[in-house]
Amino acid sequence: ENIPTKIFDESIQGSKYVAQLIADAIRRKKDQNDSLVLGLATGSTPTDVYAELIRMHEEEGLSFQNVITFNLDEYYPMQPKSLQSYVRFMEEQLFNHVDIPEDQVHIPDGTIEEDNVEQYCRDYEHKIAEVGGIDIQLLGIGRTGHIGFNEPGSRPDSKTRLITLDKITRKDAASDFFGEEYVPRRAITMGVGTILDADQIIMMAWGEGKAPIIKETIEGEVRESVPATYLQNHENAEVVLDNASADEL
Ligand code: GLP
Repeated sequence: ENIPTKIFDESIQGSKYVAQLIADAIRRKKDQNDSLVLGLATGSTPTDVYAELIRMHEEEGLSFQNVITFNLDEYYPMQPKSLQSYVRFMEEQLFNHVDIPEDQVHIPDGTIEEDNVEQYCRDYEHKIAEVGGIDIQLLGIGRTGHIGFNEPGSRPDSKTRLITLDKITRKDAASDFFGEEYVPRRAITMGVGTILDADQIIMMAWGEGKAPIIKETIEGEVRESVPATYLQNHENAEVVLDNASADEL
């Protein structure tokens, strides 16, 4: 089953569309005295969405007081202050610029002792469940077809866990780490099942480099070797593309 797509000439238009959708959801929940639970992604793909949300905060008074966030993943091991940490990324790209209460932000902790990681991951799942599950999950996509860091071979019912990164993923991250040998071998990621439990899923992809994996994701058979294809089984998933990433559809 194909996933509905929205294709924009330029990625910035797609990013603004996604930011508007999130802002509308935040305001709708606020009117109901309720919180919006957002699943957030890192990487270069969502940065313009976050920039647009910051602009709306500054210029339109969009408040994040009623927003609760859960990030998809973090390298393991990883110190939050490191250049490459997703904690640092989220602070710089979004959280330091909006009025979200600190205790409403959740990002997998790359400093947890290995013996405690399993329990930590179970607790992460509990925290998501406690606030009623994720309302809107943002996703990018890796060249391997990973969502979060659910690499090929990830099961559709997988939960938050420690995984081993694919060689291609580590290659793609090499420049961030100034060399492939410095890219961590593992990561903590929400599972495919965690992601599919979200009420609504929005995947974004920009640029020609993503065109082949986008074609597989949308038109390919649902299979373990391309975890993003699992989105075809979600009833409220949407893929937002620019012309370049949609080129092979
Ligand atoms: C990393 C992240 C993913 C992201 C992917 C694509 O692997 N863990 O969540 O989707 O990179 O990155 P980019 O958006 O930079 O293309």
